[in-house]
Amino acid sequence: MRGMGTLKRTVMCGDVRPRDIGKEVVIMGWVQRNRNLGSLIFTDVRDIKGIVQVVYNQDDKELTELASSLKSEYVVAVKGVVCERASKNMDIPTGEVEILASELLILDVANTPPIYIKDDDNVKEEMRLKYRYLDLRKPRMQETLLKRSKMMHLIRNFYYEHGFNEIETPILGKSTPEGARDYLVPSRIHPGEFYALPQSPQIFKQLLMVSGMDRYFQIAKCFRDEDLRQNRQPEFTQVDVEMSFVDEDDVMTIHEELFKMLFKEMLDIDIKLPLRRMKYDDAMEDYGVDKPDLRFGMKLKNLNEIFKNSEFNVFKSTIEDGGMIRAINVPNGDKEISKKGFKKLESFVKDYKAKGLIYIRYDEEKSSSIDKFITEDEKNKVFEFMGSNPGDMVLIVADKYSVTSAALGNLRNKLARELGMIKEGQFELLWIVEFPLFEYDEEENRYVAKHHPFTSPRFEDEDKMLTDPANCYARAYDIVINGEEAGGGSIRINNSELQDKMFKAIGFTEEQARAQFGFMIEALSYGTPPHGGIALGLDRMVQMFTNSSNIRDVIAFPKTQSATCLMTDAPSAISELQLEEVHLNVRQEARDE
Ligand code: AMO
Repeated sequence: MRGMGTLKRTVMCGDVRPRDIGKEVVIMGWVQRNRNLGSLIFTDVRDIKGIVQVVYNQDDKELTELASSLKSEYVVAVKGVVCERASKNMDIPTGEVEILASELLILDVANTPPIYIKDDDNVKEEMRLKYRYLDLRKPRMQETLLKRSKMMHLIRNFYYEHGFNEIETPILGKSTPEGARDYLVPSRIHPGEFYALPQSPQIFKQLLMVSGMDRYFQIAKCFRDEDLRQNRQPEFTQVDVEMSFVDEDDVMTIHEELFKMLFKEMLDIDIKLPLRRMKYDDAMEDYGVDKPDLRFGMKLKNLNEIFKNSEFNVFKSTIEDGGMIRAINVPNGDKEISKKGFKKLESFVKDYKAKGLIYIRYDEEKSSSIDKFITEDEKNKVFEFMGSNPGDMVLIVADKYSVTSAALGNLRNKLARELGMIKEGQFELLWIVEFPLFEYDEEENRYVAKHHPFTSPRFEDEDKMLTDPANCYARAYDIVINGEEAGGGSIRINNSELQDKMFKAIGFTEEQARAQFGFMIEALSYGTPPHGGIALGLDRMVQMFTNSSNIRDVIAFPKTQSATCLMTDAPSAISELQLEEVHLNVRQEARDE
């Protein structure tokens, strides 16, 4: 039979309850499991709401024959009466009832699926991604996508209630040299020319403020061709916002309200407002990174003073070269970190360009990896300064300030995770403010904008932009949750002269600035309100709210770490004709790969 015959679904599988006992219902779903005990057949039928058990009248030979032919993942419709179950299963919400079927329809048969449809099937991620549509049948995956949908609904409502309008911006845009690498789309009509997919709707949202749209938001897809890390995807979703006639406090306050609402609605957690604000320089000093995880201590401390007369070459040269000897105290580190464990930590900090890692154990001998070069008195001073207790371990890196910060900041995070210092269900939110306006790009040999070139400097730094860029600060802010950057934004430059100066400061000639951003600089000259905004990483937020360890688990159809889709096989080669239409030749080396 095709279609659903005369049957219409009356209730979802997971919604059947004791209150329905005696009622005739129709359910539709997938066969989770069919147990044929000879005399009795039990079928567990699953839909997005859950699983319910179906049983059959043994005297109805035609029905039981059909039921015994059911296999996992067949799609069925069952009509029957809800009955109380003899042996109840209190582990599932429908476990007190079952459906005594009077009619069974097979709506579609199924081949044996290559992966089990259950949460803990432990199958390799490649298989899950290749058969994503089956992977998404798992309750945990469905729950996550439903939570994502709920969050988007709550977020949309919040902005509408606060006077924002949702406006779409183009996907086919113009390539710009700043930021990450662009994804490019060749033009058929304009030979040799390319569109770029948006890395964010930044310019368009600012232009909407020039247009007087006042308060904009969009749940926007963004594309960045960058090296993928654990919490990055080549295409991801931003909750993108821009507001006119505002300062930093306005943008931050309204977003604190948004987070408060989301934590309450999603996790029933009350967040205390206002959120803490920490200056970028203080975050780097105490935590070594600009997204500190405040769920645990182990702050970084500077030991230059203690080792100022040290004869140990590494310390001596670090101090002479203007570097910094920095340390963290690991509670119980002496007990928890073995010799072998320390070797692993040493190779970890080397990934952050540190030349080495030094330890001082607070054991009876106060043993250290530099015993020949460190005095008893220095060790005692270190323990006192670090607030160490017997059984702890102090880990030291001596290098350039930026290297010690990155090495120990990331080591701090790693150790907290591995040594179980993080309480499940704890959330620490804060704003990082007063970012540097520029950072030096060693590869390009020039200053680049730390956030983006439309971010406004602090008023007091406007005059220093060309003469002392290293000491200019931005009107920028990031929201950090449990050591993850959940979002970031800034107050923008709303004056074309200042915008010109910004481009000059990052090494653009006037011609280059006009060629790339002429329309933007011109737009700013026709009366631009003071404005600012923020973009929140939706995928990362869903990850936090669903306690998912992997960004791919919160995206229906994600890409792998190497930016491929294992299900559709994208990216893929295209035909000669398609290449010709977009005026492209693929280089032979690329074809050979
Ligand atoms: P930014 O580049 O900081 O700002 O991005 C904002 C937020 O987007 C998330 N994010 C990502 N999530 C997943 N995968 C990625 N590859 C990825 N890259 C970024 C992060 C980040 O905090 N236009 C500005 C915002 C503004 O100034 O208003 C922007 O894009 O959570």
